[in-house]
Amino acid sequence: MRILVLGGTRFLGRAVAHLALAQGHDVTCAARGVSGVVPAGARFVPVDRDDPDALVPFADDGFDAVVDVTRQVSHAQHALSALADRVGHWSFVSTISVYADNTTPGQTAADAPVLPAAPPDVDGPVGPDHRWYGECKVSIEQAVRERVGVDRSFICRAGLIVGAEDPSDRFPYWVRRLSAGGEVLAPGRPSDRVQFVDVADLAAWLLHAADTRLSGTYDGIGPAMSRADLLAGVAAGLGVPEPVLTWVDQEFLASHDVREWSGERALPLWVRLPESGGLMDRDARPALDAGLAIRPLPDTVRATASWMAAQPAAVRQGGLDPADEAAVLREWQAVRDR
Ligand SMILES: NC(=O)c1ccc[n+]([C@@H]2O[C@H](COP(=O)([O-])OP(=O)(O)OC[C@H]3O[C@@H](n4cnc5c(N)ncnc54)[C@H](OP(=O)(O)O)[C@@H]3O)[C@@H](O)[C@H]2O)c1
Repeated sequence: MRILVLGGTRFLGRAVAHLALAQGHDVTCAARGVSGVVPAGARFVPVDRDDPDALVPFADDGFDAVVDVTRQVSHAQHALSALADRVGHWSFVSTISVYADNTTPGQTAADAPVLPAAPPDVDGPVGPDHRWYGECKVSIEQAVRERVGVDRSFICRAGLIVGAEDPSDRFPYWVRRLSAGGEVLAPGRPSDRVQFVDVADLAAWLLHAADTRLSGTYDGIGPAMSRADLLAGVAAGLGVPEPVLTWVDQEFLASHDVREWSGERALPLWVRLPESGGLMDRDARPALDAGLAIRPLPDTVRATASWMAAQPAAVRQGGLDPADEAAVLREWQAVRDR
């Protein structure tokens, strides 16, 4: 296939380009080149999508498939105006942040309610909390369906993406933490659900979708698992025989200013339950039935750990730092022994 990746300079877009090349496809990546470099072997065309006509020169290139990862509504609209009628298949990487209900577990893309589209004066996510992110993705999804048609478009609502070259501090936190050893603060209960998808598995599915002309709207996520299985899988991938886990109640964590999800003082991949019980417990069956293949967790861990070792400067340091973790554990111990 001749594939155009709108992106390709970091994480998922780069993984798509990398795998497409390995599969023998002809790959062009269009981006500014600000976030990184495209994989060797891909044709890189520098474009700034703030320019409405940036993608017009690609119109006669005869692409079989486009993969777009944008979060900007205008970027998507301009790409669609230039190319929608000229390519065989269009994949848009959306997000599970489009959903209106983050509480109910087991939802599927087929019936879960989504947020309203972004207001006309909002073009992309705003500020450190990425306000309007989900709404902008909803707007782009609608534009893709309208311009490309539902029979040639694949909307892939990714959940948490993990693996090599992860620009976030989320999954790498647990890889770093379990490699360090000692008593590990495990948030919540062992049975709490967590859910994610390996970047290489998601890339493979996007290419499978282009190749088979898969159409429709799906969540791009692996099956949910318990947090105990997550931590056991991370340990297994790292060759840590028996991690020492201390499970700490979520209310205790919240009362000690330990934060959810990601960032400073956060325990990544931890969210409060039951209010966020739908975030990492969606129904993966439709995606698996449509060709998403999930590798064993230890393989994801090894890929992440190898990248972290090879490129330490690229790994974002976030989460609870070791001194804060030790302090919280001491206080928890004191409460428990009382
Ligand atoms: N990470 C997660 O856990 C997660 C979860 C759910 C969904 N998602 C979705 O998954 C996708 C991830 O994509 P990704 O990993 O490839 O990273 P990304 O950060 O979404 O990449 C954005 C790409 O667009 C390019 N770009 C940005 N501004 C541009 C401009 N003005 N002109 C041209 N190109 C521009 C960037 O390259 P340059 O900067 O080099 O131009 C980069 O290659 C996104 O759609 C995200 O919303 C991610």
